[in-house]
Amino acid sequence: MNSDPEVMRYFPQALDRVQSGLFADLIQIGLEEKEHGLWAVELRNDGSLPPAHFIGFVGLSEPTWDAPFTPCIEIGWRLSRSFWGRGFATEAAKHVLDFGFQVLKLNEVLSFTSLLNARSMAVMERLGMTRDIREDFDHPKVETNNELCRHALYRIGDKKWANSN
Ligand SMILES: CC(C)(COP(=O)(O)OP(=O)(O)OC[C@H]1O[C@@H](n2cnc3c(N)ncnc32)[C@H](O)[C@@H]1OP(=O)(O)O)[C@@H](O)C(=O)NCCC(=O)NCCS
Repeated sequence: MNSDPEVMRYFPQALDRVQSGLFADLIQIGLEEKEHGLWAVELRNDGSLPPAHFIGFVGLSEPTWDAPFTPCIEIGWRLSRSFWGRGFATEAAKHVLDFGFQVLKLNEVLSFTSLLNARSMAVMERLGMTRDIREDFDHPKVETNNELCRHALYRIGDKKWANSN
């Protein structure tokens, strides 16, 4: 998944096997230290795939860089290409937001992505997250001359989530 150029199209670079393994280790350490993190998404077994078939991750994290909206809790997602177009990211994200608002008692969850990443923005909109284009920003970890630099910021608050779900 992390080495697939299509999956990684809106990131500065794809990951090789070693980098991907390190990323997975960091996710695991984070999950052991905190109540939240990037959760593995597994397909329910309908008999056509091996049990506990991993298709990607969806979860909560905290940006480690400074922006007008940090510190904050962010929801993010990444699925293997063959599992796009079936609603799995949105379905998993709904469970993550339920957890964030009901268990962690968060007031608000943010999400952001490159303006070019229409699929990711569509997930945010399906979740009921809203964007104020005045909050669009240049990602501080991406070169300003890189077409991926400009990002959209989406937000959803606990009350809106509770009223719509
Ligand atoms: C972002 C990403 C997770 C979105 O995946 P996705 O498949 O477009 O989103 P969903 O899983 O919510 O699926 C929605 C699609 O499934 C369809 N669908 C089919 N059955 C569905 C169902 N039961 N419920 C909801 N949607 C369903 C929807 O109509 C929609 O189709 P469309 O894309 O043709 O409009 C995926 O593109 C990805 O992993 N990208 C690479 C990583 C990335 O960029 N992450 C974001 C970084 S900020």
